[in-house]
Amino acid sequence: MPVDLTNGKPLAWDSAKLDADTKAMLDNLQPNILQAHVRESMSLLLVQFGDGADGRRFLRALVPLMKSARKHLEEVRDFNRAKKRGTPYVGVGISKLGYLKLGESTTKFTDNAFKSGMKRRKDTLSDPAVGAWEKHYQGEIHAIVLIGDASPEPVAATRTRVLALLPKTAKILGEEKGEGLRDAQGRGIEHFGYVDGRSQPLFLADQVAAEPGTNWNPFFPLSHVLAADPLAPHPSRHFGSYLVLRKLEQNVRAFREAEESLADALGFTGDDRPLAGAMLVGRFRNGTPLRLHGRPSAEGHPVQNDFSYRDDPGARCPVSAHIRKANPRDSRDGGLERSLGVMMARRGQTYGRRTDKPWDDAPPATRPTGGVGLLFMAFNSSLQAQFEFTQQTWADNPDFPAGNTGHDPVIGQGEREVKVRFPTGWDGKKLSAPQKQVPQTVTMKGGEYFFMPSLAYLKSL
Ligand code: HEM
Repeated sequence: MPVDLTNGKPLAWDSAKLDADTKAMLDNLQPNILQAHVRESMSLLLVQFGDGADGRRFLRALVPLMKSARKHLEEVRDFNRAKKRGTPYVGVGISKLGYLKLGESTTKFTDNAFKSGMKRRKDTLSDPAVGAWEKHYQGEIHAIVLIGDASPEPVAATRTRVLALLPKTAKILGEEKGEGLRDAQGRGIEHFGYVDGRSQPLFLADQVAAEPGTNWNPFFPLSHVLAADPLAPHPSRHFGSYLVLRKLEQNVRAFREAEESLADALGFTGDDRPLAGAMLVGRFRNGTPLRLHGRPSAEGHPVQNDFSYRDDPGARCPVSAHIRKANPRDSRDGGLERSLGVMMARRGQTYGRRTDKPWDDAPPATRPTGGVGLLFMAFNSSLQAQFEFTQQTWADNPDFPAGNTGHDPVIGQGEREVKVRFPTGWDGKKLSAPQKQVPQTVTMKGGEYFFMPSLAYLKSL
């Protein structure tokens, strides 16, 4: 039975009743796509091949270091049951130019964004000129090797094994080091100090069962992340996913200044001041959604995700907030993010070390202005319909979801000319006078689009 990507039920990956094609899919799919792999420590190697045959041999030689999605899910189950440590994550992505260098034809790939490459999409995405990107992103990137684990040691050891396989004709154009950032309670945060990675589309039965909800359905069909691997021996059983990688530098000082200025402009004092930042993000720093609460929930309270924006025209969570622009969820079973197939699986990691405490209230002047940020990564079945749509049609569009909403205050790119109005308090019926939008504090420093092929393809090289 062909793999049903549109099945309305979450995938019971460990069911004895699984059909042969779905089993083959799980045995040949790379991990970290259907379920996030632990990646507290990460190394991303950007590779350029000088010789196609050598490139094919290198990619094939990586297979013994990799595991399947099924193996990963078994490791997660064993960890949850018996705290048994899993093995490192090794993932491989190939760019359009990479496939051409390997001697493949890319006509069977259907995604136009992938087939153009990120450099040629810079106008669509309002990205900086390629000459302003970091040097290693300016060249022809053919492949990416992602290595991740819970601590730096297994990552370093695996990285050494990967590099030992690299042929003389290939070179590492550059390397990114991801390092998880956590707040005082141990929650994963991004550099502006907010809990991140909480809201995800879930594909698997055990994950969906662990997140019951009455206002938001976190289940999404496999069609949101899987694409047939067109070059694999059996594309009906062998699947992959499109990966977007973007290095997004965060000017933390400027963002903190923007939060303070907005709090001043809206007249917030005392315990109300954190509302300003929450209005930009859509959640307080500890993850409490503004849709549900006007104050951060007590520490120890699980970070909530069971909400939709139905019945909130923007009095609680402004329509311009980052999480509302990026996921408009207007009902339990979703809105455009589901009907248009936009929701993607975010798998990013922070980069750059901090000496300050990103979650506290220390003055903006003590915050870094660069050198830290997010290695934004997400898996898509269509880069055009998911990542690009979110960035271009929602985040960069001042008229989404309604006229004069403004850019996404966190990731929006392009001139921020429109003035915006905010609620003057949580659930406030009164709106402020039009305000200048907060300045852009996230800068794209480079990136690329990749396809993460099936293990069956890599073995066939
Ligand atoms: C959620 C920050 C880049 C799309 C979030 C959250 C934070 C955050 C704090 C809330 C946590 C959660 O709900 O999981 C950032 C920062 C970024 C960044 C600091 C850049 C430096 C991006 C990009 C996109 C994106 C480039 C897509 C184009 C999303 C989506 C959600 C989200 C879809 C989930 C919203 C929801 O389901 O409620 N982000 N983000 N983010 N972000 Fe970002």
